[in-house]
Amino acid sequence: MALNFAQSGKATTGKTGPAPTQPDRAPNAAAPPPLPLAVADALGMTATTPQQASATRTRLMNRDETGYDAALEQSIRPQRLSDYIGQRALKDTLAITLQAAQTRNEPLDHVLLYGPPGLGKTTLAMAVAREMDAEFHLTSAPALERPRDIVGLLMSLKPGSVLFIDEIHRLNKVTEEILYPAMEDFRLDRTVGQGHTAKVLSVPLPKFTLIGATTKAGSIANPLRDRFGMTHRLNYYEPDELCAILHRSARILDIELTDDAAGAIARRCRGTPRIANRLLRRVRDFVTVQATKGDEPSAITPTVADDALNLFHIDADGLDATDRQLLSLMHHQFSGGPVGLDTLAAALGEDARTIEDVVEPYLLQLGLIQRTPRGRMLTPQSQLGLFANL
Ligand SMILES: Nc1ncnc2c1ncn2[C@@H]1O[C@H](COP(=O)(O)OP(=O)(O)OP(=O)(O)O)[C@@H](O)[C@H]1O
Ligand SMILES: [Mg+2]
Repeated sequence: MALNFAQSGKATTGKTGPAPTQPDRAPNAAAPPPLPLAVADALGMTATTPQQASATRTRLMNRDETGYDAALEQSIRPQRLSDYIGQRALKDTLAITLQAAQTRNEPLDHVLLYGPPGLGKTTLAMAVAREMDAEFHLTSAPALERPRDIVGLLMSLKPGSVLFIDEIHRLNKVTEEILYPAMEDFRLDRTVGQGHTAKVLSVPLPKFTLIGATTKAGSIANPLRDRFGMTHRLNYYEPDELCAILHRSARILDIELTDDAAGAIARRCRGTPRIANRLLRRVRDFVTVQATKGDEPSAITPTVADDALNLFHIDADGLDATDRQLLSLMHHQFSGGPVGLDTLAAALGEDARTIEDVVEPYLLQLGLIQRTPRGRMLTPQSQLGLFANL
């Protein structure tokens, strides 16, 4: 489809620039960290209602980081493929393709990464840009609402640039259709004039790599999916990989973490590095708070990790308050299901997308619920084993 580009402009939403550099250690690793509200809440050091405390706990599992946590998270994010732990098969394939592209002095083919939140899609895209020594442009589908957003972004690319589009399943039709010739032939089609005098002009674009990321591969339109040269799924991490991630983060944050304590945290982080890092920071906060009460700051041992995570109501399987509420609701109010997502969301007071993207995948993975055409159902396993604790 051709478009009139008379109003095209630079996309304001794309964060552009060379692949970001970050320090090896957190900037404030040596200084005592300020006490995050989440910890103060959980330790009963601020006045909170039960609803506020529950919201605090839920935040441990959510996608977004804010303020202090966001800065720490950035300092922990691996920069190069060699720092990127796990996802062996995917890394091996990517490394070969990267090497081949570099040998031919060409940009990498377009890559589609999919998998549940927090498994390292954005991190991998950044690492690939760095390995290619390429400029990294980051945006997400909801920020590409108007044709001129994507046009401006494409026009700002340099040869070899990596354009990363997060949540790519949410692109609108018009933006998708601008992307097709850009991905396939590195050109923008623009319509000049109107009616029967209209002409399509093609503007060449530099060769670039598009990396798309999504948690919902099934929602991507087929023509878009077909234009990616490689499609890779990210899997949940194994406990030993999570332990390695935790030890690496602990080193950067200057925390002493024993092997057993890493294991205790790894068991509770839903196979997800983002949650592993977040739990590690919460346990570190717990140690800091204990120190303000007169105890010596100490290494994180399994007992300290267990105490801290119990405080946040994260059980030995990594289930948090929201998971347990959801299971309990399905059991008590809906007799084990089937129950529709929107009904569940309304009953829980949660956003349906959060339930679908953040809460459910882990419950499905543990075999506690199943999705059926008629709605969500508890499995016999959860009916049998779980409700003593709920
Ligand atoms: N393989 C890994 N090795 C070490 N740390 C990792 C790895 N993957 C992810 N992380 C850590 O987990 C955090 C979350 O990863 P990232 O933001 O890349 O996830 P994502 O898949 O893009 O999530 P979302 O779908 O929510 O956008 C990163 O900041 C990084 O610190
Ligand atoms: Mg991401």
